[in-house]
Amino acid sequence: MVKVTLDNITKRFGDFEALKRVSLEIADKEFMALLGPSGSGKSTLLYTIAGIYKPTSGRIYFDDRDVTDVPPKDRNVGLVFQNWALYPHMKVFDNIAFPLELRKVPKDEISKKVKKVAEMLHIENLLDRYPWQLSGGQQQRVAIARALVKEPDVLLLDEPLSNLDALLRLEVRAELKRLQKELGITAVYVTHDQAEALAMADRIAVIRGGEILQVGDPDEVYYKPKYRFVGGFLGSPPMNFVEAEVQDSYLDVYGNKIPIPPQYRELVKKLGIREVILGFRPHDAEVVKGKAEGLFGTVYSFEPLGREQIITVSVNGASVKVFAPEGEHFTFGEQVTVKLREDRIILFDKKTEKALEFLLEE
Ligand SMILES: Nc1ncnc2c1ncn2[C@@H]1O[C@H](COP(=O)(O)OP(=O)(O)OP(=O)(O)O)[C@@H](O)[C@H]1O
Ligand SMILES: [Mg+2]
Repeated sequence: MVKVTLDNITKRFGDFEALKRVSLEIADKEFMALLGPSGSGKSTLLYTIAGIYKPTSGRIYFDDRDVTDVPPKDRNVGLVFQNWALYPHMKVFDNIAFPLELRKVPKDEISKKVKKVAEMLHIENLLDRYPWQLSGGQQQRVAIARALVKEPDVLLLDEPLSNLDALLRLEVRAELKRLQKELGITAVYVTHDQAEALAMADRIAVIRGGEILQVGDPDEVYYKPKYRFVGGFLGSPPMNFVEAEVQDSYLDVYGNKIPIPPQYRELVKKLGIREVILGFRPHDAEVVKGKAEGLFGTVYSFEPLGREQIITVSVNGASVKVFAPEGEHFTFGEQVTVKLREDRIILFDKKTEKALEFLLEE
């Protein structure tokens, strides 16, 4: 239960810069997701917070205490590794008890604590089994219990649900979110799964190539992406992008005239920008039959998903995906128009791929 501050952290492995001047503040009791593609530096950042890696430069603080040179065992962090190995020769009880035994906690206290954390994770009836007698999801919960039992100040989780099947993942994800809030532990949760980050986190830090691109609550990073990459990484399907040219009062998108969204009119003028990328989310548009104001194209494909369907529309060679209600019928090649919800449009600078509203900062 502490605030974690990363101040300008750089981590080099030889010549390779895995983390580049990362600054991030994780509030007391906050659930922070570190979201990014494979190789973006998520684990490196997590292990740096844990003290397993020492930053090449920069400082780390737990509250006001500078822990940059403090070894992992003196940081009171609970760490669940990406490949959550349990000790195979120990029963579940002993696996969970292990961190407390290292601390020479009295036996009856250990017993009480292990039982309590096991109950919280619904594994209290498994304490007498060996890891190989457990399902993947149960093993996972044992690993989480082991990290929790020592009542860490900071809980660090590295893709803890990545090996579970989809259903179990949904179940454990809800449990974990509730548990973190009940215990009031500051948590950093590494994932490359955008849905998991959106569902669980108070705030999300999007990381790419060792740099944090954006930090914000789920709504913010979802609806107000700072970079094209962020819009394209979150959402399923992710944000659509089409190239557009700014004209006097409209945007030319492959010959379609789209009015410049009101929220951008002043800014576009001020920036004097011509080449932009127009981004919109699949549920911030609708598909109507025939030609209308919007992006005119043809139906390339449609995928029913139960309650709704995804329509893929070809717009002069570009492809965009839009949600449509379940009952509507579409045919391959049919002429349609994608009508955009104006207030949700995001315009990015084509060169830097940064959203226009962020172009003037720094
Ligand atoms: N010990 C190391 N020595 C050299 N390079 C490393 C080392 N650890 C990580 N790297 C490199 O640093 C980059 C970030 O690695 P990291 O493990 O942090 O990625 P990640 O975001 O956790 O990826 P994944 O989602 O695949 O687990 C990668 O390019 C990786 O090859
Ligand atoms: Mg990793």
